[in-house]
Amino acid sequence: MGERKEIKITTVEAKRQMDIIAQLSQHIKDKNLKFCISTFGCQMNAHDSEKIQGMLKQIGYIETDKEAEADLILYNTCCVRENAEKKIFGKLGYLKLLKRKKPDLLIALCGCMMQQDVVLENLKKNYRHVDIIFGTYNLYKLPELLQTRFETGKAVIDIWDSHQDIVEDLPSERKYPFKSCVNIMFGCNNFCTYCIVPYVRGRERSRKKEDILNEIRTLVADGVKEIMLLGQNVNSYGKNLEEPMTFAQLLREVNAIEGLERIRFMTSHPKDLSDELITAMAECEKVCNSLHLPFQAGSSEVLRRMNRHYTKESYLELVRKVKEAMPNIALTTDIIVGFPGETDEDFEETMDVVRQVGFSSAFTFIYSKRTGTPAATMEDQVPEDVTKERFNRLLDLVNSMQADYMHTFLEQEVSVLFEEVNKQNPELLSGRTSEGLLVHAKADHSLIGQTRAVKITENKTHYLVGTCL
Ligand code: 5AD
Ligand code: SF4
Repeated sequence: MGERKEIKITTVEAKRQMDIIAQLSQHIKDKNLKFCISTFGCQMNAHDSEKIQGMLKQIGYIETDKEAEADLILYNTCCVRENAEKKIFGKLGYLKLLKRKKPDLLIALCGCMMQQDVVLENLKKNYRHVDIIFGTYNLYKLPELLQTRFETGKAVIDIWDSHQDIVEDLPSERKYPFKSCVNIMFGCNNFCTYCIVPYVRGRERSRKKEDILNEIRTLVADGVKEIMLLGQNVNSYGKNLEEPMTFAQLLREVNAIEGLERIRFMTSHPKDLSDELITAMAECEKVCNSLHLPFQAGSSEVLRRMNRHYTKESYLELVRKVKEAMPNIALTTDIIVGFPGETDEDFEETMDVVRQVGFSSAFTFIYSKRTGTPAATMEDQVPEDVTKERFNRLLDLVNSMQADYMHTFLEQEVSVLFEEVNKQNPELLSGRTSEGLLVHAKADHSLIGQTRAVKITENKTHYLVGTCL
């Protein structure tokens, strides 16, 4: 995947990019240039986009959500499932027309899709209207890539095939002033056989504890009350640090930060969820009452072929331990339907896990074949109609279990951090409980960013309605 660059990246490198940002801002000053960014995929990508937004705004670009009025259009891409890729290529076709009408328009692509050789070759050959392409390892270089594009007038393609040191201290934007994501680690070593992430995000590397804590302290000083610690597999945080530490230890230190109210984290791999972490979660009062614990499939045989390193029984035992320590915890999960070789009986095991655990919500996915992963060449790929039928049955079950779960909140008092004005009814504010449940309640707009007690008066499958107390 491209030629490996031997550049030493440290905070000095961040300083270099900041200098380029200053030069560029002189260049584009008063030009009223606008950018529009579309983000596909997971929280990790969403947070990467916040970093891109931060850099572009510092350069002097103004954000717009309308592609038609933008001078720079960016797509931060995802390749976890095929559909996401198809969408990007479709959009690129449309951008070609837009660029014909507006020749100065710059188009930039980044993110996981760019780390695949086949995609890159296709783009180089068939999508020559793209101006800047970069990958998951060198996002921080965007200012330099933009500068090169301006100076040369030629397409700039910079994809690395592996990571370098972690670059700290770059500007970042937050969607909400009072909550923020914080990367604690990058990459994944697990190689689940269906998943492309380890190939496009590289091996696990953890940020240093002090860098994480300092970032959170700065965020809290800036008004942040809730943070989401991000990593593909947060439970293996710290293993490769010079001074190794566990995620549980990190959690305790984050919990001690004064002024911070809520801590969330994702994603947890069941094979690495330790007793030490369960205890830390139960003891740390700021850790939210929720846990995202993807089980992917209920059949132990399917799990073995997925390379997940746990069985149906050990997953259920883990859930039992978690619930014992935190009886009312909201568990969420990811489930894949139609993994190669999945039989009707295997699928029933998946349904059984859903019934037994009673998730507060679940992300359900139809298996998508990803070239280059071991599962792509496995025999017995499940026919589409069979998968669809199973998927619909699973969705019905998940929805009905979720409705039952939501019903348990009726007449209950919950604590809600209000996030925004309700899109349908401006008299209502929308916020989240510690469990991550969406609540709408009549409240003054000044309460955005504040936590309030709310009594639930109505429950729906995907949200609750209540009254402020
Ligand atoms: N097909 C379908 N779903 C997938 N996921 C990852 N790879 C695939 C794939 N090839 C799902 C998993 C993971 C979530 C982020 O995406 O459930 O937990
Ligand atoms: Fe993909 Fe498995 Fe790593 Fe999650 S743990 S990112 S599913 S390889």
